[in-house]
Amino acid sequence: MKNLYYPYLNKYLKFYEWSVNNLEEFWNLQANIIPWFKKWDRVLESDGNFYKWFVGGLLNASYVCLDQHIFNNFNKDKVAYYYENEIGETKSVSYYDLYIMVNNLAKVLSDLGVSKGDVVLIYMPLNIEAIVSMLAVARLGAIHSVVFSGFSTKAILDRIIDSKAKYIITTTHTYRKGKVVDLKSNIDFIISEYKDIKNVLLFDRKKDYEIKELDPKYVVIKDLNGYNYINPVIVESTDPLFVLYTSGTTGKPKGILHSTGGYLVYVANTLKWAFNVGYDSVWWCTADIGWITGHSYVVYAPLALGITSFIYEGAPDYPDPSKWWALIEKYKITEFYTSPTALRMFMKYPLDYIKKHDLSSLRVLGSVGEPINPEVWVWYFENIGNKLCPIIDTWWQTETGGFMIAPFMGIIPLKPGFASLPLPGVVADVVDEQGNSVKPNEKGYLVIKKPWPGMMKTILNNNEMYEQVYWSKFKGWYYVGDYAIKDEDGYIQLLGRADEVIKIAGHRIGTFEVESAILENNKIAEAAVVGVPDEIKGEVINAFVVLKQEFANYKDDPNIFSEIKQTVREVVGPVVVIDKIFIVDKLPKTRSGKIMRRLLKAVLLGKELGDVTTLEDEASISEVKNAYEELKKALK
Ligand code: PRX
Repeated sequence: MKNLYYPYLNKYLKFYEWSVNNLEEFWNLQANIIPWFKKWDRVLESDGNFYKWFVGGLLNASYVCLDQHIFNNFNKDKVAYYYENEIGETKSVSYYDLYIMVNNLAKVLSDLGVSKGDVVLIYMPLNIEAIVSMLAVARLGAIHSVVFSGFSTKAILDRIIDSKAKYIITTTHTYRKGKVVDLKSNIDFIISEYKDIKNVLLFDRKKDYEIKELDPKYVVIKDLNGYNYINPVIVESTDPLFVLYTSGTTGKPKGILHSTGGYLVYVANTLKWAFNVGYDSVWWCTADIGWITGHSYVVYAPLALGITSFIYEGAPDYPDPSKWWALIEKYKITEFYTSPTALRMFMKYPLDYIKKHDLSSLRVLGSVGEPINPEVWVWYFENIGNKLCPIIDTWWQTETGGFMIAPFMGIIPLKPGFASLPLPGVVADVVDEQGNSVKPNEKGYLVIKKPWPGMMKTILNNNEMYEQVYWSKFKGWYYVGDYAIKDEDGYIQLLGRADEVIKIAGHRIGTFEVESAILENNKIAEAAVVGVPDEIKGEVINAFVVLKQEFANYKDDPNIFSEIKQTVREVVGPVVVIDKIFIVDKLPKTRSGKIMRRLLKAVLLGKELGDVTTLEDEASISEVKNAYEELKKALK
């Protein structure tokens, strides 16, 4: 970096050093970014691997997002969200409108008995009512559990059972690529299967959908007009705000539990630091509320900061691939934040779809969810940002709550493909198996060495798993599960997952979930899935299946493939698409019976056996070798 002139860089680096060496003092100052009913007594408390931020502080998330702007600021009439959907409906919702809607919905929820600590499942597409639902739940001090609307009944049911949710908020339908997608029928199924659900709030869109049958548990919401006021329930900083399920290496999705105070402080600060959003921003984060990016940077951070956002309910390339660019022009978006998968998808279309739109309102571009390859970075920089907008590559996770590694906007020189440096207060390193920092440009494990306020509280109902997954590999450090390198300037480049989690279009999919879905097909005895690189989606799923003996003759039946794909669609939802399926006689396993997925992957990628033997610590070299050769033969 010697020959470059960045006047604030050295000052900033000193400030960064100060922040991590004086962690509590630093966060004590930053916590004032949100309004508190009572100031915290202590910034940080720890009990082994469990951390508590801003202990003794009292607040309410919906007050932070809404009331403060209505009562203390000039933001009352400011637009909180511009909204548009595929069928051309538009809305412009001010902070005051949102406040009214949230109070009215909170009243309905409260009348039904929802109170502090209850879990409310939200199964909604990306629209205003979904955001209102999250905030209304938070207003009552209850905990929301948002389930992505692209997931099916099995995913909903798993989450209901684990979180013991008694209430659901949903809507009749959504729109996707010109089709009406029925959501209510999934919930009909859930309430017929699971009797513990007390009530379901159903937003009636009054269009394109006829409500035929209505279980008495449904409470239909036609509008949110009215003048109810519900006192925001005062919660402790450490009380949970939400649970969000995400995939891990083994077992069912884990319920990642986030606290209220630390989380809000963290997301509000990080959005400012990384994107420098301001009073005149029209911020567009394209993520769905079903993922952490939607929670943190569609809902909580922009609202806590009182800025204007745009949301779009629909597919990016429908009716044609100019849709997003037309929206940027129409709403004069200033900061735009999306995923590399979306960019790679747009890259395959002629540039005319972009060039016919005026994107000059853009100031900053962002990327999240998966590594952004340098070619995509440069394409984004040149064609969307017109070589004028910095690209903020933000590395973080459901568990971290907010951005961890990202360029501090305007101060850090950028390098294509690098998430760059840790944000203030974040200590990240790349280490080897023994925990020693690796040499510059050597691959290792990314770890976070000090706590930060956005960190998860625990895994819901499973403190043991929390400690085992995140804190046991390197004692005292948070284990991320990603490979990375650090270059000679300390810049961090992410190299993908170090475990068996698959990332399709930036979404985390666990092997276990897909394998159990495949096994729902009664002809299948065993299944193993792996992620293989894909030009557009980052990774796609390939599956290996063993047929039950009595169905062995299906091996040559072409229908078996579509049958398996259909089962997975039905069980997990349309997001999880299996690209290729291989029928094999047996799966390679270690002596203890663990499927050697890395070997499956190596065979698919045509890697030499030498790369594989070291990967399977539990199996003997000859076992791996035999399995490898057998599999290669089977795939021929
Ligand atoms: O592998 C990393 C990848 O996404 C994982 C976290 O996934 P999830 O919890 O679903 O959150 C996604 C949105 C924050 C990480 O372990 N990942 C996320 N951001 C990046 C990334 N990989 C490379 N570069 C990124 N900017």
